[in-house]
Amino acid sequence: MPSYTVTVATGSQWFAGTDDYIYLSLVGSTGCSEKHLLDKAFYNDFERGAVDSYDVTVDEELGDIQLIRIEKRKYWIHDDWYLKYITLKTPHGDYIEFPCYRWITGDGEIILRDGRAKLARDDQIHILKQHRRKELETRQKQYRWMEWNPGFPLSIDARCHKDLPRDIQFDSEKGVDFVLNYSKAMENLFINRFMHMFQSSWSDFADFEKIFVKISNTISERVMKHWQEDLMFGYQFLNGCNPVLIRRCSELPVKLPVTTEMVECSLERQLSLEQEVQQGNIFIVDYELLDGIDANKTDPCTHQFLAAPICLLYKNLANKIVPIAIQLNQTPGEENPIFLPSDAKYDWLLAKIWVRSSDFHVHQTITHLLRTHLISEVFGIAMYRQLPAVHPIFKLLVAHVRFTIAINTKAREQLICEYGLFDKANATGGGGHVQMVQKALKDLTYASLCFPAAIKARGMESTEDIPYYFYRDDGLLVWDAIQTFTSEVVNIYYESDQVVEEDQELQDFVKDVYMYGMRGKKASGFPKSIKTREKLSEYLTVVIFTASAQHAAVNFGQLFLGMYPEEHFIEKPVKEAMARFRKNLEAIVSVIAERNKNKKLPYYYLSPDRIPNSVAI
Ligand SMILES: [Fe+2]
Repeated sequence: MPSYTVTVATGSQWFAGTDDYIYLSLVGSTGCSEKHLLDKAFYNDFERGAVDSYDVTVDEELGDIQLIRIEKRKYWIHDDWYLKYITLKTPHGDYIEFPCYRWITGDGEIILRDGRAKLARDDQIHILKQHRRKELETRQKQYRWMEWNPGFPLSIDARCHKDLPRDIQFDSEKGVDFVLNYSKAMENLFINRFMHMFQSSWSDFADFEKIFVKISNTISERVMKHWQEDLMFGYQFLNGCNPVLIRRCSELPVKLPVTTEMVECSLERQLSLEQEVQQGNIFIVDYELLDGIDANKTDPCTHQFLAAPICLLYKNLANKIVPIAIQLNQTPGEENPIFLPSDAKYDWLLAKIWVRSSDFHVHQTITHLLRTHLISEVFGIAMYRQLPAVHPIFKLLVAHVRFTIAINTKAREQLICEYGLFDKANATGGGGHVQMVQKALKDLTYASLCFPAAIKARGMESTEDIPYYFYRDDGLLVWDAIQTFTSEVVNIYYESDQVVEEDQELQDFVKDVYMYGMRGKKASGFPKSIKTREKLSEYLTVVIFTASAQHAAVNFGQLFLGMYPEEHFIEKPVKEAMARFRKNLEAIVSVIAERNKNKKLPYYYLSPDRIPNSVAI
């Protein structure tokens, strides 16, 4: 009688093991096996991290194995199980891998296909087609869209973390980490003391230093020492945590009536301000988005304010960017003067502090929350709803949306909700942050997520003209590496543009992002469908870059870019493409390390060895 060796790998995260009964059946092209209990005498099967092998003898020839069915039944109390993968050695000596990387909960069952990625058109056999369809039907019931606030990109329909499908919840340790990190961050930042300090108003700039006491690294120490200087203020627009707002000023805006006389002492080239603009030496950061946003009124004893500044910057003869004029609100007038470096020291310093404060609000709510966290969640939900696990694009993207829906659900539970941390600690709390997202969604275009195009749109592409923009330089290297990798993977599975166009599952994924994420807005420039391999690889680069590099640059925080410990792909050409991707990324690590050598203020946010794969913190 034919005999198979079945090897079962249990996850190594907390509580991954199970004491429940596990049954296996094999579905082959010519027959199905009986249900076999996987059990070894005097042995504790399926412990956390274990790889156990079992001999399974069947009554008849099964032909090619098409599916494996795993059933879990209660032993004592329900005990969830995380199955990494199963390998099968057939009676003919062939090995077949069945990746899983999922939880089985309750009296659950899971039906697995072998690890070869397949498009729908490659599946001709009825039971495989049926399996594919059923998987999506089940997922669409579990992963539902919900509007958290009007005008927001839709998010997952779950009130709290424990309502999420088990597969996308944090592993216990990650969940615990989150709580720990959160309280640690609170403790580190002395947030209570900090808030108290502001409520009772502060009297000295040295008070600021108190909040940094416990955060010490090269960058924070240097920033603390030099934060009042114009050079540091300018540098932060290029290589700080919000390096996406500064743009080259091609024309002075009417709403900022600055004259050459006003900024004369800052200009170093004996040119008028207009001439400096023409030569490309003037830059601008405009916080127009904050205009009309309600300041936090949740605490009746604390009157809070928001500015909507415009800051003009100058590239000096040393090619460094420095601020030369600041207007705190949008409409010019007597009540809204333009502050200059030639003003009294503290007037100028306070104007810069207002700009930093505005930058903080836009950074947290738009650059970070909307443009990495919420958009990655959209890609994640669309992926789970429209792509079966056997689809190559699912296999490619799953590592890049890992824990994103979970972290966002936690954020909606604890941070950005009513009475959450935003309401307590931010001037945009109490609804201002919601208004900001609603307003900013109109600028969330597809082009703005294509890194090279976004840099160009802000006129910041010239390395010669603007030499110290490391966010741009490193970001472009990483973007190119990702694009090379995605186009290699796309070319493995799509032999022509027509195959892309006819892949209905892929088209449904892209359409879901457009309809539910972008709310069907044509102006977003998000594609409704994808017709070529080139466009597909660009789209996938946007998804991966946004979730990994862009988030790292603006968040910074276990699993780094290019590392795929879950082996969803088993085919050699993809594994080779992954190896080349890692090699390219390693080369980028060396380039960045070399550049940072001897720099007082190194920029390493986009060094691939520090870029997590997904938005998970
Ligand atoms: Fe984050």
